[in-house]
Amino acid sequence: MARSSSHLPVNVGIIMDGNGRWAKRRLMPRSYGHDAGMKRIIKLVDYVRTTGVKYLTLYALSTENLSRPEDELNGLYSLFRKYFEEYAPKLMDDDVAISVIGDISVLPEDVAMKMREVCARSGKNAPFNLIFAVNYGSRAEIVRAANFASRLGGNVTEENFSRFLYTYGVPDPDLIIRTGGEVRLSNFLLWQAAYAELYFTDTLFPDFDEREFNKALKEFSRRNRRFGKV
Ligand code: IPE
Ligand code: IPE
Ligand code: MG
Repeated sequence: MARSSSHLPVNVGIIMDGNGRWAKRRLMPRSYGHDAGMKRIIKLVDYVRTTGVKYLTLYALSTENLSRPEDELNGLYSLFRKYFEEYAPKLMDDDVAISVIGDISVLPEDVAMKMREVCARSGKNAPFNLIFAVNYGSRAEIVRAANFASRLGGNVTEENFSRFLYTYGVPDPDLIIRTGGEVRLSNFLLWQAAYAELYFTDTLFPDFDEREFNKALKEFSRRNRRFGKV
């Protein structure tokens, strides 16, 4: 990486969209696109670790995605099962911490267990931190936090409120990338993205390779982040 580290995002979030369309273009079922998406995740993680980015937050399943047909969801759960059984343990031996944000209690029990196991074995603040958002929705996260805060009583501040979010201890995303051509956040990290730089690309997620990731980093390095100052 030739870029100076001050222009490098610490936390990059990716809204991994476009798997279904990628498959459709090949006259294949949506599940084929999700398989390709998972292969892409594996390659991308290997690459992003080498760039100096410290956190990668991947939007894998939204709360709204739970209303998709059962066979598509089952296919996604099988991919999660495979990832957390086969790939996650290999990564963790290698200075990578893996965590999950979202309500995984609705997933098939064995998948949720595998995820919990991996998260429990993972330290926090490894040199590289991989975070999967699974059955994640910002609104649900904020409401959940509000409930914790109200039970505790006292004055709510931005600081203490953010402790009740799933992302407590994780720096806010500096850069959020959305693949697949849509220009929206779809309930991803709404609180945390207050000052994130947003990057949208038409590239469908299974095609989002190192070059594409570098393009996003390059664009980020050109942005002037003012945080409200002059
Ligand atoms: C994103 O790809 C992956 C998930 C939401 C699980 P999509 O499945 O939304 O793909 P498109 O948007 O239909 O192409
Ligand atoms: C956003 O993609 C969710 C994930 C990538 C996990 P969607 O395909 O669900 O988003 P919408 O429906 O186009 O907003
Ligand atoms: Mg989509």
